[in-house]
Amino acid sequence: MNNYFENKVAIVTGSSSGIGLATARLLAERGAKVVLAARNIEKLDEIEKELKEKGADVFAIKTDVSSEQDCRDLIEETVNHFNTIDILINNAGISMRALFKDIDLKVIRTLMEVNFFGTVYCTKYALPYLMKAKGSVIGVSSVAGFHGMPGRIGYSASKHAMHGFMSSLRIENRKTDLHVMLVIPGFTASNIRRSALVADGSIQGESPRKEGKMMMPEEVANAIIKGIPKRKKKVLLSIEGKGSSFLTKWCPSYLDWLFYHHLAKEPNSPFE
Ligand code: NAI
Repeated sequence: MNNYFENKVAIVTGSSSGIGLATARLLAERGAKVVLAARNIEKLDEIEKELKEKGADVFAIKTDVSSEQDCRDLIEETVNHFNTIDILINNAGISMRALFKDIDLKVIRTLMEVNFFGTVYCTKYALPYLMKAKGSVIGVSSVAGFHGMPGRIGYSASKHAMHGFMSSLRIENRKTDLHVMLVIPGFTASNIRRSALVADGSIQGESPRKEGKMMMPEEVANAIIKGIPKRKKKVLLSIEGKGSSFLTKWCPSYLDWLFYHHLAKEPNSPFE
């Protein structure tokens, strides 16, 4: 399995930071041809340069996954450049923090457009190539995708939608060779909380949690890279991820209590 990724063509959305960047680096290290996709092209160009200096075959495409046209262009340009697509990692995402009673509805719409429709658009246009290549489509989701999360209502709704989409796609493809995998990291040190939207749609700007105490993005990347050759359906990470998965099934009311009290303790929590 060591050379599994050699010359495989992999697209990683949201590869300008955090989990996406760590995954793109690891794929390049393993010999994959990597397409970097995110909105910040200057940052992507720097990463492209860094990886090319290490001998990797990569290229960057400016992509806003909430735009269907951008996602279509991402897939077309990838195929024009590399002829095929073996792996699509739907990782781009944003978060939010506010209560539903206070939130401007545009925040929920943005979360759905990026986290859910971004995954749908990229998967739709990549699907014929992925099926031909007997490839893998991956969705990076969250614990908030299987249990409601107070103060993260738009995030949780978008990740629940993503779970429904990915598992339906997996079952639809029971008799094809398409591999569909959902990744559920626990809290991971990244920009996700700094770039989260608050009630009026502005950016939170700082993390309400101790990023240094979290799992590193490289751990998530490692688990993704291990899960693909094994064609896993689900990769569930960290104690809070595994614990929440157990509790949502067996003690859901206790998990409600836990989420409420845990998130209420964050500085400037919108509830107490
Ligand atoms: P991050 O903020 O460091 O990275 C998110 C990436 O998505 C960035 O490259 C960002 O530019 C990109 N992005 C955001 N909106 C985009 C758009 N419209 N078009 C294209 N790219 C866009 O955060 P992180 O943590 O690395 O997030 C990656 C994924 O992991 C997300 O889907 C997130 O929901 C998920 N996740 C993160 C957890 C965490 O604690 N960090 C926990 C569970 C899931």
